[in-house]
Amino acid sequence: MWTRTEPEDQAPAAAPLFGPVGVLPQDDRGGSRRQGGTTVSKAMLEVEKISKHFTLSGQKEPFCVFRDLSLQVREKEYLSVLGHSGCGKSTLLNIIAGIDTANSGHIILNGREVQEPGLDRMVVFQNFALMPWLTVFGNVRLAVRARYPEWSKQQVADWVDKYLDMVGLSGAANKRPWELSGGMRQRAGIARAFSVKPSIMLLDEPFAQIDALTRGVIQDELVRMWEETGITIFMVTHDVDEAILLSDRIMLMSPGPQAKFMDEIEVDIPRPRKRISIIEHPRFYEIRNRIISFLSQKG
Ligand SMILES: Nc1ncnc2c1ncn2[C@@H]1O[C@H](COP(=O)(O)OP(=O)(O)O)[C@@H](O)[C@H]1O
Ligand SMILES: [Mg+2]
Repeated sequence: MWTRTEPEDQAPAAAPLFGPVGVLPQDDRGGSRRQGGTTVSKAMLEVEKISKHFTLSGQKEPFCVFRDLSLQVREKEYLSVLGHSGCGKSTLLNIIAGIDTANSGHIILNGREVQEPGLDRMVVFQNFALMPWLTVFGNVRLAVRARYPEWSKQQVADWVDKYLDMVGLSGAANKRPWELSGGMRQRAGIARAFSVKPSIMLLDEPFAQIDALTRGVIQDELVRMWEETGITIFMVTHDVDEAILLSDRIMLMSPGPQAKFMDEIEVDIPRPRKRISIIEHPRFYEIRNRIISFLSQKG
């Protein structure tokens, strides 16, 4: 267990880390608002009516991945978007990350519109995306240095050690990515993402390339770190059981083109959840059946 005592905690959470960040007029921000007669509390991330289309060579009509897609993520929430392969999950996540751009709409994080990548939104990719020429330590250090440029070499090293320890990678700190198993690579990716204390973590099918036994262990580690740090998580996945085990809320996305959110499920199964015992909870199969039936209808 560890506590947040470093000076950055006093800085406003919404402080831009780099790049231009457009501030929207007050009325357009993600503050409390009335929706259908009820007041909803401020969302930390708002996806507002985003549309994305690709113009494919040789085709007159653009391919519309989604149109006017909206979504709100609450602070400290673990929200998952679940849908078939190809429905647009990575496209959505990449737009939130600022890696891709929407054709219209807004992404608002802590009341500010985001338009390019920033260390306030750390992505954990399916293919790990570590720098191959750097050691595990070097990969995490690169992110920590970018986040805390004023820190001394020793401060950075201590910080990196702490996060490698949290994911059980201390013994592999000097290894390069190609010397690691998939599980160890993903642990390095998770350590890197947590080490810069982003406002939100964006997970793109982070366990898809990890064997089933290791996957369970890393999922448990991720949940523990999520609970300890209070970071918000946005995950996209096509794995039903994984979504139920990990999430507070699941958005079901229809297959594309023009994918939409078709259903929203609050996973009201108490935590801590264990993969062995969760299947005995009466809500588990209700939720699972609802999702499976949605996926079968639309698939
Ligand atoms: N750069 C691109 N150019 C053209 N089409 C793309 C591009 N990226 C994604 N697509 C298409 O957009 C749709 C959604 O892709 P993606 O977001 O990767 O789906 P998912 O992550 O849900 O599997 C797919 O039909 C895919 O072929
Ligand atoms: Mg994808």
